[in-house]
Amino acid sequence: MNYNTMERWNINKSSDLYGVSEWGGGYFFVADNGDMMVMPEPGATGRAVSIAEIARGIRERGFDMPVLLRIENILDAQITSLNETFRSAMEELGYTGAFMGAYPIKVNQQQQVVEKIAQFGSRYHHGLEAGSKAELIAAMGMMRDKKAVLICNGYKDEEFIDLGLYATKIGFTCILVVEMPDELPLIIARSKALNAKPILGIRIKLSAQAGGHWSESGGERSIFGLNTSQIIQAVDLLASAGMLDCLKLVHYHLGSQISNIREIRTAVNEACRVYAGLIREGAQVEYLDLGGGLAVDYDGSQSNFLSSRNYTLKEYCTDIIEAVMTSLSDDGIAHPIIVTESGRALVAYYSILLFNILDVTRFHADPLPEKLPEGCPSQLEYMHQALKDLTIRNIQEVLNDAIFYRDETRRLFQTGQISLRERSLAEQLFWTTINEINRLAGELKNPSTELTDLDRVLSDFYYCNFSVFQSLPDSWAIGQLFPIMPIHRLDEEPTRKGILADITCDCDGKIDQFIDKRGVKRYLPLHELRPYEEYILGVFLVGAYQETLGDLHNLLGDTNVVTIRIQDRGEFEFVSEQEGDTVAEVLSYVQYDPRRLFVRFRETAEQAVRDGKISAQERRGIVEAYEAGLRGYTYFER
Ligand SMILES: Cc1ncc(COP(=O)(O)O)c(C=O)c1O
Repeated sequence: MNYNTMERWNINKSSDLYGVSEWGGGYFFVADNGDMMVMPEPGATGRAVSIAEIARGIRERGFDMPVLLRIENILDAQITSLNETFRSAMEELGYTGAFMGAYPIKVNQQQQVVEKIAQFGSRYHHGLEAGSKAELIAAMGMMRDKKAVLICNGYKDEEFIDLGLYATKIGFTCILVVEMPDELPLIIARSKALNAKPILGIRIKLSAQAGGHWSESGGERSIFGLNTSQIIQAVDLLASAGMLDCLKLVHYHLGSQISNIREIRTAVNEACRVYAGLIREGAQVEYLDLGGGLAVDYDGSQSNFLSSRNYTLKEYCTDIIEAVMTSLSDDGIAHPIIVTESGRALVAYYSILLFNILDVTRFHADPLPEKLPEGCPSQLEYMHQALKDLTIRNIQEVLNDAIFYRDETRRLFQTGQISLRERSLAEQLFWTTINEINRLAGELKNPSTELTDLDRVLSDFYYCNFSVFQSLPDSWAIGQLFPIMPIHRLDEEPTRKGILADITCDCDGKIDQFIDKRGVKRYLPLHELRPYEEYILGVFLVGAYQETLGDLHNLLGDTNVVTIRIQDRGEFEFVSEQEGDTVAEVLSYVQYDPRRLFVRFRETAEQAVRDGKISAQERRGIVEAYEAGLRGYTYFER
């Protein structure tokens, strides 16, 4: 019950509190029974499936939390939506070129993901982008579609170039993008040596630069790409080698998660000028590749905040097409094939990280004694008096006093002037006062920021069965926000405020910033734990970059991954289950030999038998436990 309004809590309030309809892209909603639901495509409520039910199914199949859940219909729907939105915007505006997508493998390189993109993208000839030899080798092995583009970006050595040339020879539309001036003479030499006519692109440095985390990817100081004089030198070199007709594509990449549509438009204009300039130079360019950057509205604020975007997909497509048409109209140039290398926007929605809560720590004060003990230090008396005098009128003054005397008692403790028991009493007095102040501050119309911050200071720690470093590396590294919420009990009011601590023993292994329509929230509304009942949270929109960038901090390995497909009538099937790393596997990643470890441990245990510390039977149990540990999951198991 919400006592302020005396209105019963309901699912709409939960939906609003966690902003589900704002960030959910139409794929999620809260059901009447309080479960979070997922739909195979936006608005398909009739085929929705309860995520809590999927989590139960995962358990029943013997998989422990944490689990990365992939819903493959969502990937399918995102590919369709990108391609169809470009197609319909082109039709509406009378654009005579075409759109071709190229998924950048780096965004999520997992074989299953790339395979599904190739499968779902085939009806649109959606291609791939490779930024390294390994990615190119993966792409050449996965791709079948010869019409789709295979874009080769990244630093290229002879082997990389040769592979790209072979791909062209066997019929792929494989485009070698010149990223550095030195690459071109090598490409020319290798194409002559292999007698292969290359399809070439040039990555250009734009003066336009986007804001945000990845702004350094664009602009004149960007690491990759050719500036205008290098572009002219490349044209001259190609012309002198009789290969100017090989130059087919102009590429730039402004950065990822570009929140502001204006920056996207400005960059397109500038790139079109280069495109037109190259045509005037005699090149027969056909493709304009705008790189990645299509952002995801993680916080649902629809703003140019880092975790959001101030445009819809429709606006993104329309603005790009309009900018190209306007920029090239005066030159009478045929409309190019627009390529985008959108990664984040394609894959973010389709993965959800699920984990259970292991424990909660609350910052409440232990009850105070009726009376302070005789001969108590005066600082404790002052704190006690301040607490008794606290009213809504002197709230700030009492807060200042409480902090002052808390610091004073800590100082006196360090110099040995107050005892451990007295220091403990001072802490109790302090936290009782802070809790009381926080309660009263709720009644203030305009509380100071110091007072509003008490919600964060007093929030609970929810201990979560996952590793930030393995599963949400961007949350730790660049403060990326993701929507996080319980996947069930949403018909109940979440009465606690918590921050999330993972199971690494690292003080950075926590999440204390959460999405909010008006900025960033410092705590997450959560439910009280119930005895013997699992409480599961979901982190949504984690399909892009997180799996790839995660690391083995504390030797917590890859989580279990389960992929489901939602069927026509809202049933779902498990299409694949990948077990997470075992302890032996993560140990081998850091060069241990698990077999040798086991043998050595068995010897150590045998020594303990010889020393009379354990019996032979005990040794057997201990050795079996060690062996089972090697085979086990790296996360907390029930
Ligand atoms: C060259 C290139 N293309 C495409 C992308 C993918 O960008 P996004 O995930 O923003 O679509 C990246 C990633 O930063 C990139 O470096």
